[in-house]
Amino acid sequence: MKIRKLQLLKRCYIHAPLYLFVFLILGTQAYTQDIIKTVAPQGWVIQTQHSTYRLILTADKRVRPVYYGTKIAESDLKKEDFWFNNVQKPSNWVRNIDEIPVRGDFPFKEPVLEAMFANGVRDLDMVYVSDEIDVENGVSTLKIVLRDKFYPVEVTSNYKVFDDLDIIEKWITIKNTSKNKKDNVRLENVLSGSIVLPHDDYILTQLSGHEMNEFQEEQVPLSTGVKVIESKAFKSNFHAPWFLIKTDQTTKETGSAWFGSVHYSGNWVFRFDKKFNSTLQIVGGINFWDTDWMLMPGETFISPKISFGYSPYGTDQATINQHRYVRTYVLPEKHRHELRPVLYNGWENSYYDINEKQQIELANVASEIGVELFVVDDGWFKNRTASDSGLGNYEIDKNKFPNGLKPVIDHVHKLGMKFGLWVEPESVSDNADVFVKNPHYTFQFREREKGRYRKLLNIANEDVYEHLLNSLSKLLSENAIDFIKWDQNSYLSEPGWLNAPTGLEREARIRHTQNVYRLVETLRSRFPEVIFETCASGGGRVDLGMLSRMDQAWVSDNTDPLDRLFIQHGYAQMLPANTMVSWVTSMTRHQPVSLDFRFDVSSGGVLGIGANIAKWSEGDKTIAIKKIEIYKRIRPVVQYGDYYALTAVKENSKISYQYVNQNQKSAVVFFFDTSHFLPNNRERKSELKVRLKGLEAGQRYTIKNLDDNTVVGEFDGRYLMNIGLKFPAKNNPFSSWVYILEVVR
Ligand code: DGJ
Repeated sequence: MKIRKLQLLKRCYIHAPLYLFVFLILGTQAYTQDIIKTVAPQGWVIQTQHSTYRLILTADKRVRPVYYGTKIAESDLKKEDFWFNNVQKPSNWVRNIDEIPVRGDFPFKEPVLEAMFANGVRDLDMVYVSDEIDVENGVSTLKIVLRDKFYPVEVTSNYKVFDDLDIIEKWITIKNTSKNKKDNVRLENVLSGSIVLPHDDYILTQLSGHEMNEFQEEQVPLSTGVKVIESKAFKSNFHAPWFLIKTDQTTKETGSAWFGSVHYSGNWVFRFDKKFNSTLQIVGGINFWDTDWMLMPGETFISPKISFGYSPYGTDQATINQHRYVRTYVLPEKHRHELRPVLYNGWENSYYDINEKQQIELANVASEIGVELFVVDDGWFKNRTASDSGLGNYEIDKNKFPNGLKPVIDHVHKLGMKFGLWVEPESVSDNADVFVKNPHYTFQFREREKGRYRKLLNIANEDVYEHLLNSLSKLLSENAIDFIKWDQNSYLSEPGWLNAPTGLEREARIRHTQNVYRLVETLRSRFPEVIFETCASGGGRVDLGMLSRMDQAWVSDNTDPLDRLFIQHGYAQMLPANTMVSWVTSMTRHQPVSLDFRFDVSSGGVLGIGANIAKWSEGDKTIAIKKIEIYKRIRPVVQYGDYYALTAVKENSKISYQYVNQNQKSAVVFFFDTSHFLPNNRERKSELKVRLKGLEAGQRYTIKNLDDNTVVGEFDGRYLMNIGLKFPAKNNPFSSWVYILEVVR
């Protein structure tokens, strides 16, 4: 894709007094939609490379979205056909959805903002005040300021435009502009943004599941009514904060697809409101369920971001653009362009039963097979003998590590690997020193002790924040740690904030999340070289809020390679492979599969090993050495290439996907034959042809099987994309292949 210069066309307001004059002279009747169309339309149009987002400013100073979809010429924007949010016709008032819909006026919309003023008024009436465009590092941000007609509330609606990727980030800023200290404003719902799509038959793709089975792709047609996907318990194992909407005509390669992500790690929500024979409105942001926020005079509240994208080339391009966006703009800058190291993590091997000698032995084998980062998971601190014990202590367990962690860390470094450590800062066990001394540090309601096996610290409380910052800073400064795996295994069910400053009780969830972010950011600024991995009972905190602060993610505690193919398929809709950590273990939930197959599954993301490598035979080690070498060779394409799911994971037992270098010079194709596993596959297509994607039509590519280094053939890109490659075959069940394609020079 060529990068074209952003054309953010700001419309002229100089004529506003003239329009008003015409309006007053001719009266309401004369101020029709036609007049709006015939005069240069007021408002804004955001033209990205393949999409147009059109906002208009009505005569009564409302900002309304009238078009979001495939790119159209400016002249076409005047045509009524495109104006699906028909703002001027009184008969269409049901469809008049403002850009920032509020509670107030007709309630036929999903509000982005709901507030109550000190005198009990719960109605907002926002009109346009001003706008400006900021340009930073070549990226433009439009800011439209709205103000309530009477009450002291100012809202800025922000649009950061990534024109080459057809993605727009939205967020809102709310300011209490009063100078009178009695004029507080209670925010009862603040989402990040809304989009309105024209009437059509839509299919929603969502990624849902549960612990051990995250990111399962589900597709549902949207019927009239409101569909909600949300998180209420502080974890996203059940739904990922992402969606994709397509029409019933859209394919992988053609037609419209819209997608979006809420960049937030606390409770979040998406609402899809489909009106009968009419528009679809989508809103998302923080889930204000059992939450509110008191905005005092002079204070500002900033919503997290929501990003919306549009692809006119079907769902494949939507995925590619989302991946490029995360890799290029979202992930923390410091390690953004670094290849993620091959890691070893011993959790599934030894759980809490760890010690110095065993870790050193594991490190020796890890280094021998080519691992680059050695991670000690849970179990290293005082009293950590089981899941209900010791959490919250930062003192190293002297029984397991009599000399502290230093000997293991030094050994790992001497072997040329980085050293990583697991932490779970937000939770404590009953017997942790910090909890024994400060039980009020945890979330709880009085007389509602639930006796959970671990308790969530209330980091909204500044004392808790300071305690964690000091403990983690001490840990990182006293030990040469290169990598932190940051876990969170509690669900929040009693969000009581003991001793909360008056009126702030229901702000606890938001303040907690803000302080978790602040904690990570402060640690990153103090220890900039450290790489961070987000984890929450598997893939429970994989969102763009956390992934703008952490470099990679643990996807699921289910490491069975067959289940993993499905989990990774879902994950890959939303996020790029350089964030997707995948371990080779011995977990077998269905049928045994070979070590080669396990390596091939994990090589589609950030390769990790989690098996008991100290017990591996020489044969196993030989396989591992070869597979890790292969991974290092294909890693730049896997981690930074464009991803295509070639054969549909759900319908076909022969699964294949592909990564293509953005310069189209090389590609990697993975094939997995799972015919013996999937019950719905009876076809056993021996002659299945897999059409590759994203190659250059006129180029010739050599294809090599990396396992035996044999040349599969030399083909033209056009042939590979139109006729395809024969799906390889072996007699063994659960076979896999990795092919590399390189342009013939
Ligand atoms: C849950 C994580 O998902 C696992 O990988 C592991 O780190 C355990 N927690 C440790 O308690």
